[in-house]
Amino acid sequence: METVLVTGGAGFIGSHLVERLVAEGFVVRVLDDLSSGCMANLAAVRDRIEFQKGDLRDPAVSRKAAAGCTWVFHLAAVVSVPQTIGDPAGSAAVNETGSLHVLEAAREAGVRRLVFASSSAVYGDDPRLPLREDLPPRPRSPYAVQKLAVEHYLAVYDELFGLSTASLRFFNVFGPRQDPSSPYSGVISIFLRRALEDQAPVIYGDGLQTRDFIYVADVVEALLLAARSSAAGVFNVGTGREVEIVSLWRQIAALTGCKRLPHHAAPRPGDIRRSVAAVGEASSRLGFSARVGFEEGLARTLAWYRGSGSGA
Ligand code: NAD
Ligand code: UD1
Repeated sequence: METVLVTGGAGFIGSHLVERLVAEGFVVRVLDDLSSGCMANLAAVRDRIEFQKGDLRDPAVSRKAAAGCTWVFHLAAVVSVPQTIGDPAGSAAVNETGSLHVLEAAREAGVRRLVFASSSAVYGDDPRLPLREDLPPRPRSPYAVQKLAVEHYLAVYDELFGLSTASLRFFNVFGPRQDPSSPYSGVISIFLRRALEDQAPVIYGDGLQTRDFIYVADVVEALLLAARSSAAGVFNVGTGREVEIVSLWRQIAALTGCKRLPHHAAPRPGDIRRSVAAVGEASSRLGFSARVGFEEGLARTLAWYRGSGSGA
C-alpha cells in the first residue's frame, strides 16, 4: 500500500481529498496545525488515517511527515487574501518558507510526485479572459506573490533535483465544510450562512466582480489526475464559467427564500475584478474537466449547511 501525504488535510479541500484517497485504498497521512482546519472535517475517516499535528514553519515537521511517502499533496496555507495583506511576512513564513520546507522534505524522502495547490489569484487583473496559463502573472496581493513564488520553486526543484511536480491554479472552490465563520471566508459559504440566518449579506464594491466557482469534488478529481500524470507546469482548475457576485446572491436568495437585499461596502483592497479559467490545458494534458454544474454544486452545498445543524 502506498503512503501519501496531504498537508492541510484537515481543511476544507484537503479533507475531501483525504476521504477520496482513503476510499481508493491509499495509506493517508495528514499534516495540519489545525489553524483554520479542524478534526471534525476528518470525522468520517479519522480512524483510518495517520494524523500529525504540526506547523509547516518547522522544517523537522515536514521531514517527519514526508518520510516514506510516494506522493505529496501540498495544500496547507494561509488562504485568505486580506489576511496576507494584513500580515505579509507572517503569511509568507507559512505560504512560502513553509512550502520550501515541504519541497525539501519531499526531495529528501525521494517522493515520486508533488502536487501544489496554487491559485488563480496569480493572474491578478488581467483583462484577457478567459485566463490562460501562458499569460504573464500579475500578482496583486502577498497571497498571490507567495503562490507564484512556490510555483517557481516547484519548477526549479523539478529541474535541479528531478522532483516531479505540478501546480494547480484553483479558481474559487466551494462545497460542504467550507468554513463560513470568518469575514475572510469564501463568499459562497458566507452568503449561504447569511441566507439561512435570514440576514442581508455584505457585497464589497458594486458586486459586478466575477469569479469562476468550482465544486470541491471536481477539484479533488483534478488533484488525483495531476498526481497520476507526469505532466509538469501549471494548470488551471476551473469551470470556464463566470459568475457575478450580485447574481450569486440572487441565486442563493432564490434557493433559500431569503428576501434580504445586500448591503454594499467599499471594495476590498487587492480584490480582483474578473476571473474565469481557460480550461483547455488541464483538459488536454491532465484529462480534467469539471463535471458538477454550478446550480447542482450550490444545491449540494446548501443541503450540507442545512444538515450540519450549525445554522450555517
Ligand atoms: P483551509 O483553510 O480549509 O485549509 C488550509 C489548511 O492548512 C487548514 O486545515 C489549516 O489548518 C492548514 N494550515 C494552515 N497553516 C498551516 C501551517 N502553518 N502548518 C500546517 N498546516 C497549516 O483552506 P482550503 O480552502 O481548503 O485551501 C486549501 C489550499 O487550496 C490552500 O493552499 C489554498 O491557498 C488553496 N486554494 C484554495 C481556494 C479556495 O477557493 N478555497 C482557491 C485557490 C487555492
Ligand atoms: C478565493 C480564496 C483564495 C483563492 C482565490 C482563487 C478563500 C477565503 N479565498 O479568494 O484562497 O486563492 O479564491 O481565486 O477561499 N465578497 C463579498 N462579500 C463577502 C465575501 C466576499 O462581496 O461577504 C466578494 C469579494 O470581495 C470578492 C468575491 O466575493 O470579490 C470572492 O471573495 P472570496 O470568496 O473571499 O475569494 P477570493 O478573494 O477570490
